[in-house]
Amino acid sequence: MPNLIDDHRGLRKVQHIQHDAVTVWHCDKQFMNIFNRIRKVTLLTPPKLYHVWQMAKGAPPGAFWECGVYKGGTAHMLSHLRPIEMFDTFEGIPEKGENDSHHVGDFACSEAYVSKLVPRGKTHKGPVPTRFFDDDIALCHSDVDQEQATWDVLQYVYPRLVTHGVLVIDDYAWPHCYGCGKAVFEFFEDKPEAPVVNAFGQATVVKR
Ligand SMILES: C[S@@+](CC[C@H](N)C(=O)[O-])C[C@H]1O[C@@H](n2cnc3c(N)ncnc32)[C@H](O)[C@@H]1O
Repeated sequence: MPNLIDDHRGLRKVQHIQHDAVTVWHCDKQFMNIFNRIRKVTLLTPPKLYHVWQMAKGAPPGAFWECGVYKGGTAHMLSHLRPIEMFDTFEGIPEKGENDSHHVGDFACSEAYVSKLVPRGKTHKGPVPTRFFDDDIALCHSDVDQEQATWDVLQYVYPRLVTHGVLVIDDYAWPHCYGCGKAVFEFFEDKPEAPVVNAFGQATVVKR
């Protein structure tokens, strides 16, 4: 049987479990203040958000990006650290491939709503990667869920990540987002970095 780290088909075996995590984020006042403002406008759970928050705090100089913004809660959190570039259709999921579970139109939220929530952010409306531009990226939170979109984000962002720049990919090992995990797995097969997966299914890469 393939092991999770040997073959992307292993991702199909990931299951939800009850785990013995500790709520360390409750001790972080700045994070909790922000979290209390965004809890209703993000799909990320506190442990996932806290992982992104910590990686962002340690990021080298450079730009912050989020691909897959939805209502903008995670982007709002990141904008407390640096201005952020936000990429989304703002009309929800634009396509569904054979390894995807979400449907076209899922997670639709208007660009105007997000712009208001994230004043230190700049929206770029359209399917990725059409509105991408050249940048020195210090941190990218990729949360587009589907296989092709994840692949497109990785292909564009990875070469533009600065040394020690951080890529956090949500849903890498999330049962409903198999296509996303497959794209990450296959993309990094010939790269020097190995994605580190945590117990919440996020994959993290620090650029060499
Ligand atoms: C799970 S939601 C993002 C959740 C968000 N990061 C949060 O903090 O709650 C996925 C988002 O990806 C966007 N998306 C998916 N595929 C896309 C694509 N090909 N181009 C642009 N946006 C895309 C959807 O419109 C949706 O807003």
